[in-house]
Amino acid sequence: MHTPDIPDTPDSSSSTANPFALALASSGICELLAQLDRELIGLAPVKQRIRDIAALLLVDKLRAERGFTAGAPSLHMCFSGNPGTGKTTVALRMAAILHRLGYVRKGHLVAVTRDDLVGQYIGHTAPKTKEVLKKAMGGVLFIDEAYYLYRPENERDYGQEAIEILLQVMENNRDDLVVILAGYKDRMDQFFASNPGMSSRIAHHIDFPDYGVNELAQIADLMLETMQYRFDDEASLVFSDYLQRRMQQPHFANARSVRNALDRARLRHASRLMQDPLSVADDTSLTTITAPDLLASRIFSDTGQTASGKEKTSCAQH
Ligand SMILES: Nc1ncnc2c1ncn2[C@@H]1O[C@H](COP(=O)(O)OP(=O)(O)O)[C@@H](O)[C@H]1O
Ligand SMILES: [Mg+2]
Repeated sequence: MHTPDIPDTPDSSSSTANPFALALASSGICELLAQLDRELIGLAPVKQRIRDIAALLLVDKLRAERGFTAGAPSLHMCFSGNPGTGKTTVALRMAAILHRLGYVRKGHLVAVTRDDLVGQYIGHTAPKTKEVLKKAMGGVLFIDEAYYLYRPENERDYGQEAIEILLQVMENNRDDLVVILAGYKDRMDQFFASNPGMSSRIAHHIDFPDYGVNELAQIADLMLETMQYRFDDEASLVFSDYLQRRMQQPHFANARSVRNALDRARLRHASRLMQDPLSVADDTSLTTITAPDLLASRIFSDTGQTASGKEKTSCAQH
């Protein structure tokens, strides 16, 4: 894991005297960056981009104090990646960091999809979009699955109207509103190809890769720790096996699938404690998820390919 620091500092002994590192420390941003490192597993390239942006804003602030102005940098972003890769979570952190650096006034996140911006009837879209923008001003507007705004197959689609209003505000209010567009990478690329105006206003494209099995296991441990549960040794091994199987299944959604699996394990853990006549209500039993709590998952009773058709219709039950 990286310690938060000015990127590319040649050696750590000089970094303590580095005036930029000192400014970074006094901005309180170090704490947020350290928290990001601690509480989010993996995502090294994403974390690096966030550190780069923080450095840019800080240097910008120091420049402004001496009268050098370049205008507010454009910070609109695109977060592309599969479901459950941490896009919404990182957007929330980004909002807090931008606020701490004084880029936005409030630092809140407003998360929307097409339906929050686009109306069903003529004349409904502009007021809807403007209302959302008003709410998001001073913070981050996060538009999930942003490509649904653009539906070329419908000749008179109101999504275009929302896009045009967004473009205007992204240009005129960029010192107080950051727009983050999120969604699958290939669809975002298509969306930008057909909306060059939007593409040219997005300064940062950040890819969220799928997690590997070890990262997913670490994410599970972190989630359990925050919920004050733990796996015993056998459960840890079984959960690795679970992950390898679950990753091959349809509708696998990275860290979100981990969270869902843990929720189901908690249900089974509770039922086991209720049903076992030998249960004791001590700290260990109340906090420990054991192998049977995981092995009861239908994923372990599936006999590979033959069950996959059935699995598809009950994807919430893994
Ligand atoms: N790198 C990570 N470390 C720890 N938890 C994570 C990580 N990435 C995602 N999560 C957790 O997984 C869940 C889904 O993440 P989310 O940000 O909603 O993904 P997305 O918006 O890409 O679909 C959330 O509960 C989040 O806290
Ligand atoms: Mg999301």
